[in-house]
Amino acid sequence: LEVERATKEDYDEVLASLPRFWGARDVAGLHHPMFIAEFGDTALIIRDRQRGVAAYLFGFVVAAKARGYVHLVAVREDHRGLGLGRSLYAAFERLALTTGCREIKAITTPANAGSIAFHEALGMQAVEIEDYAGIGHPRVVLTRPLANQA
Ligand SMILES: CC(C)(COP(=O)(O)OP(=O)(O)OC[C@H]1O[C@@H](n2cnc3c(N)ncnc32)[C@H](O)[C@@H]1OP(=O)(O)O)[C@@H](O)C(=O)NCCC(=O)NCCS
Repeated sequence: LEVERATKEDYDEVLASLPRFWGARDVAGLHHPMFIAEFGDTALIIRDRQRGVAAYLFGFVVAAKARGYVHLVAVREDHRGLGLGRSLYAAFERLALTTGCREIKAITTPANAGSIAFHEALGMQAVEIEDYAGIGHPRVVLTRPLANQA
């Protein structure tokens, strides 16, 4: 299963099937079209055998900070635990390295234990920061330097 650049059609498919990736969570608003229209170079997908989207990662590069930022990563429920999330991150890191990035970053909510465990399995450091997303809205900030690995 190869990592490919996400198309607008892939984006439309993801938006039409969010519960298969996120369950009951309301995450439609996080899927802003700019991740395809503006940051499409770092929007990645893995297709299943029927050419449907099995997993995706929407990210971007913050050039001034030499940072690759992963905004969303999700694997369809029937494709979890197979290394797809890890493969998407590896492909994103390769892209980030080619544009001069020295670290990768993502954030998640303290309640998302699966996401924290996943990112820690990828070697990222997790630090909870109070009020990160507004007063009373902590986030777990996940980072890893890129220079000495990948
Ligand atoms: C988090 C998520 C992206 C992981 O994708 P995945 O393809 O199942 O993960 P992988 O198979 O690539 O796993 C990579 C590593 O993370 C670990 N891992 C993945 N999910 C885990 C979980 N829920 N709990 C503990 N460890 C987990 C795996 O054990 C594996 O470790 P290993 O390589 O050392 O054995 C997926 O569960 C998902 O889409 N969740 C819902 C959406 C979400 O919450 N996204 C993150 C929001 S920031």
